[in-house]
Amino acid sequence: MNKIILTLAAVMTMSLAACAQDEGEKNMQSGNKPLVVYFSATGTTAKAARTIAEITGGTLYEIVPQQAYTAADLDWNDSQSRSSAEMNNPRARPALKDTKLDAAAYDVIFIGYPIWWNQAPRIINTFIESHDLKDMTLVPFATSGGSGISNSVNELKKAYPDLEWQNGRLLNGASRNAIRDWVSDVMKER
Ligand SMILES: Cc1cc2nc3c(=O)[nH]c(=O)nc-3n(C[C@H](O)[C@H](O)[C@H](O)COP(=O)(O)O)c2cc1C
Repeated sequence: MNKIILTLAAVMTMSLAACAQDEGEKNMQSGNKPLVVYFSATGTTAKAARTIAEITGGTLYEIVPQQAYTAADLDWNDSQSRSSAEMNNPRARPALKDTKLDAAAYDVIFIGYPIWWNQAPRIINTFIESHDLKDMTLVPFATSGGSGISNSVNELKKAYPDLEWQNGRLLNGASRNAIRDWVSDVMKER
């Protein structure tokens, strides 16, 4: 008898989990697809962004700097490198190659970036300040060499308190299934 009750409880838990997942996936498949924007200097964040766009059917948009970052620009051991100079200056706003994106068409925007000095690269600020992102749900995601995402998200929340931020997710080495589960939750909660 105990075994039957336990089995029933397990089946019910599993179907409840499946329902929750379905709701997220239904939202993903319904009319409003998200926008997946990302900046990626060496391709790691780009890969995570492509997976999110594939899973959600969303539109992928790369934030491209007007002037591409060279390997020397990315040298964090050089305090004079372009990335060091930008990250040392909270007001630095590296120019975008293109600002023609119509972000207003979306309710949910995933925003991806590599962690630089425990923060979002300044070009993310340029992107945010170049588009009207009010009344949309902004979902940060990031890749890093080991740092977490929360400091970068807190800084973004502090800089843009009028925007609707979610806590986001670090996607270092995340499997497609892990990304699917997370994205499904995000689309369910909004
Ligand atoms: C200028 C610079 C600063 C970085 N700072 C950090 C950091 O503070 N913490 C960390 O874990 N990784 C740091 N990294 C590593 C990147 O976050 C990591 O390699 C990331 O996955 C690169 O993503 P991308 O290939 O999309 O550019 C830094 C990399 C660069 C180029």
